Amino acid sequence: MYETKRLQLRSLVLSDAAQVEALAGDYEIAKTTLNIPHPYPEGGAITWITSILEDPNEGKTRRTFAITLDNMLIGTISLLIAEVHNRAELAYWLGTEYWSQGYMTEVAQLMIQIGFEEHQLHRIYAASFTENPGSWKIMKKLDMTYEGTMRHHVMKWGKPVDLVYYGILKEEYETKKQGAL
Ligand SMILES: CC(C)(COP(=O)(O)OP(=O)(O)OC[C@H]1O[C@@H](n2cnc3c(N)ncnc32)[C@H](O)[C@@H]1OP(=O)(O)O)[C@@H](O)C(=O)NCCC(=O)NCCS
Repeated sequence: MYETKRLQLRSLVLSDAAQVEALAGDYEIAKTTLNIPHPYPEGGAITWITSILEDPNEGKTRRTFAITLDNMLIGTISLLIAEVHNRAELAYWLGTEYWSQGYMTEVAQLMIQIGFEEHQLHRIYAASFTENPGSWKIMKKLDMTYEGTMRHHVMKWGKPVDLVYYGILKEEYETKKQGAL
């Protein structure tokens, strides 16, 4: 269990499934993600959470958390670690009613700390659709560096879309931390 100023991060449990389905089932969330189906299939969240709970890599090469506000699940966030490259990708979503209050920036900052300080990563990056400013603005606020745009890199619902990439290196994180002291 981890805490930020306003939120908590904890492991997912099977009883989160209904809330995951209720929130992630929103079209607005599926629209800008690659792995969240729409409509969200009934029982899909149970399958997803079970796959995490049974994954021997969870905690090692993948850290997945429920984001909670006053004990209520409001979204999830994952750090997907490529051990061989000592790097990880951040992936996240938040229920629409909680958007634009700085919540994901707050939580993603903690995930970066976990990645660099607990997992000794060298690099953390994130990618989003170019047309998803709510996501790439988080990356900018985290002092990640814009690394480029991969044109028509993925297909979303039959159409090619551009992805922007942002990243931060361990030394940049350390420099920023020193500056904050
Ligand atoms: C992306 C997402 C996690 C953002 O979470 P959030 O808690 O609202 O993010 P934050 O409030 O920390 O920061 C978002 C920033 O983008 C801004 N923003 C949000 N929507 C925007 C939009 N449509 N256009 C421009 N700016 C937007 C917010 O105002 C905020 O900027 P500010 O702090 O300068 O005001 C949330 O929108 C979401 O879950 N989207 C659907 C799933 C998704 O796209 N996940 C990411 C896949 S890469």
